[in-house]
Amino acid sequence: MPSARVSPEERLEHAAEGEEERDAVELASLDGATIIEAATGEPEEAVATPSIAIDAERLADAQIVTTKEETWPERGVDLEVDAARGLRLKNPVLTASGTFGQGIEYAELIDVSRLGAIVNKGTTRNPRPGNPQYRIAETPAGILNSIGLENPGAAEVARVYGPKWAKLRVPVIVNVAGYSVDDYVFVVEALAQTPGVVAFELNISCPNVEGGLLFGQDPALAAEVTRAVRETTDLPVIVKLTPSATDVVAVARAVEEAGADGLTAINTVLGMRIDTAKRRPILGTGSGGLSGPAIRPIAVHITYQVAQAVSIPIIGAGGVTSADDALEFLMAGASAVQVGTATFADPEVPLRVIEGLAAYVREQKLSSIRDVIGAALPNGGRMVPRG
Ligand SMILES: Cc1cc2nc3c(=O)[nH]c(=O)nc-3n(C[C@H](O)[C@H](O)[C@H](O)COP(=O)(O)O)c2cc1C
Repeated sequence: MPSARVSPEERLEHAAEGEEERDAVELASLDGATIIEAATGEPEEAVATPSIAIDAERLADAQIVTTKEETWPERGVDLEVDAARGLRLKNPVLTASGTFGQGIEYAELIDVSRLGAIVNKGTTRNPRPGNPQYRIAETPAGILNSIGLENPGAAEVARVYGPKWAKLRVPVIVNVAGYSVDDYVFVVEALAQTPGVVAFELNISCPNVEGGLLFGQDPALAAEVTRAVRETTDLPVIVKLTPSATDVVAVARAVEEAGADGLTAINTVLGMRIDTAKRRPILGTGSGGLSGPAIRPIAVHITYQVAQAVSIPIIGAGGVTSADDALEFLMAGASAVQVGTATFADPEVPLRVIEGLAAYVREQKLSSIRDVIGAALPNGGRMVPRG
């Protein structure tokens, strides 16, 4: 096991020192250029991928919302949790990857420093333009998406967003995606020293190009990628489970054994909608990932099963829209939750979940939110290692 980890707070403090000037220069140098242009120095072809351009001017001007801690409704309530081994957070509410941009965009709308942590957009080795349109379709109580991991690539994420993350005063978890074990290791190496980054979350819902299976469908493959990343960084490694595995519990056990410090349960569930007038699937890729309240019972079920099989912390994800939804996950054995799709309709949902959890702790006269973790499990509680 890696030793002597630095707390998220220490990393944030260190990261915030003297970033201002370097930041302004680097963002300016990207001005008006797409990521490809900035990386190669060549103008892009018309067919290329303007959609992954970073709006550097806007980013440099971002007005970050801050509020006084004395005014936070959750103040004075013990909401602290270990969201993963070595990842103690001030409260159990995180944002979900791919639904909160790189955090900066939302920092203009809400005080993100109130959140337990944010998880950035899926980050890959190379820039990715994403999938053809349509990429989102509404469904009853949810949405289908096939964004296709659009992102500017690990090096640009580190260079452009790292200095910004350092100023948000919220821990950042980098969501890593890849098509080979080397891809995951590459991204983690590229971002491990980035200011503000406190942990990695491995999106193993990606096909392994060699075998075609998703990494997360096969316990051995999932363990292999976990072990390789574990050997690359001292930061906590969280593995995000896919409901597409035949035996999710077996995958959870295998990645725990391979050194994972925590699990996220779950990624989206495969689904499809058809445009009946066109007689074709609505999404450009045919199928996509279903998220939102429609998948919550699936996610709670998986959390409940996995919580009885492993001893590392679990972060629940899938359809959280309120404190009561979050409590379902906590009682099923999760130590924290992520809020994803709900923030599209209202960016304040994660803050209201924090507020609601604090109110619950007060009303129930609990000593901390940790008292409810695993309360619905057969043995009525969950012992996860602290620290
Ligand atoms: C538009 C969209 C993009 C997403 N992108 C990613 C991603 O890049 N990496 C990842 O691990 N999960 C991604 N997810 C899955 C979410 O992080 C989350 O696991 C899932 O949506 C369930 O939570 P929710 O119902 O609260 O949205 C994405 C989900 C949505 C809706």
